[in-house]
Amino acid sequence: MKCFPEGFVWGAAAASYQVEGGAREGGRGLSVWDMMCRIPGKIWDGHTGDVGCDHYHRWREDVDIMREIGLQAYRFSVAWPRILPDGTGKPNREGVDFYDRLVDALLEAGIEPWVTLFHWDYPYELFCRGGWLSPDSPKWFAEYAAVVADALSDRVVRWMTHNEPPCFIGLGLQNGEHAPGLRMGFAEVLRAVHNALLGHGLAVQALRATCRKKPMIGMAMCGRVTAPVSEDKGDVEAARRHMFDEFGLDVWNYALWTDPIFLGRYHEGAIRTYGDLMPPICDGDMRIIAQPLDFYGMNIYSCGFVRAGKDVAPEPVALPVGYGMTTMEWPVTPQALYWGPRFAWERYGKPIVITENGMSNTDWIAVDGRVHDPQRIDFLTRYLREYRRAISHGVEAIGYFQWSIMDNFEWAHGYKRRFGLVYVDYPSGRRILKDSARWYAEVIRSSGASLGDG
Ligand code: BGC
Repeated sequence: MKCFPEGFVWGAAAASYQVEGGAREGGRGLSVWDMMCRIPGKIWDGHTGDVGCDHYHRWREDVDIMREIGLQAYRFSVAWPRILPDGTGKPNREGVDFYDRLVDALLEAGIEPWVTLFHWDYPYELFCRGGWLSPDSPKWFAEYAAVVADALSDRVVRWMTHNEPPCFIGLGLQNGEHAPGLRMGFAEVLRAVHNALLGHGLAVQALRATCRKKPMIGMAMCGRVTAPVSEDKGDVEAARRHMFDEFGLDVWNYALWTDPIFLGRYHEGAIRTYGDLMPPICDGDMRIIAQPLDFYGMNIYSCGFVRAGKDVAPEPVALPVGYGMTTMEWPVTPQALYWGPRFAWERYGKPIVITENGMSNTDWIAVDGRVHDPQRIDFLTRYLREYRRAISHGVEAIGYFQWSIMDNFEWAHGYKRRFGLVYVDYPSGRRILKDSARWYAEVIRSSGASLGDG
């Protein structure tokens, strides 16, 4: 198989707080990230998302760039506090108008909008009322989902509820690296997990009840992807077990989230490991969480490796010294895009969309005025070939989104990390297509044939 399947969607992604800027404009309320950026020492070099990539003002130019690259879809998130400045209540017209115009411009450019409802810019007012620990938090999220659906669903069909709940809970509430910067005990973490799951379920119900165009709904999940060191049956089984059956006092096992969502129950291993740390579960909760979804969005950047030990017990295998790394210090492990989708497909049987994949690189403007990023081209070639291999082995996969359309605010790392296909010169706001953007244009045009064999 050289090409990707018919109808396969090629896109790129970004998120509101990372690109928009305009933090105090258009009636936008504060988010937990605005507040996090004010705490000295939390963000590299004191950077903030106040101006971001100035996408709030430059969105037309950005849509033109997407068209030039030939993107078929753009995955973006709506800033909850732009729509509801206090998190609940009356919608802010100016905020809604911004996304209204963006959606129109995308459609005019022939680019399908894929909308994420929540990519981490949680309304600060709701955080002060308990955030994801509040029993009202699922309802707040569903109310917000209905407002966005009401505004955009005459044109938007593809929806994602949460982006990476393991991150906004694991990094935001458990280890304090991300906003709101808390370090809670694991019982509280699990309560937040349960509320976020309930919020997801109620939001799906709200979307299905409100959308004017029949919605296609998923979420963008992340977690620990494990690959086997060889294709031997035992190693493969050990990797599967490591990915889904091993639980520590953290939230990085996919199954903690996606078993409730797709199978309607918490994984036995989680229940056994967490014991009385598990949150109270009311009658009907699991039914709310397990709303039928149309696709399974996975954000995948790298994986770990295991081999089978005694009784197929997974034994982690370290990467050799000097193994390739991105500037995030994430290993270059293309196998992640084979085993991640394959294991997820085999467990849940839902069509997969890679909702994020990409790398941070040491990009700069070269003496010829261009931005050369051969590592990114090599990285994406390797990963996409593995994704294609998974599809040729029977995994149903319907799309791929490169992270990110442009360099942007990389959370606690500020603007130090560059993930974009498009270079952003922050002082001037100028955009420059990197070599990888032109390369990706050809991948899209040829539906993957230009990736060659391998
Ligand atoms: C997030 C993005 C982030 C990217 C690279 C994902 O965890 O969804 O917001 O920029 O990975 O770290």
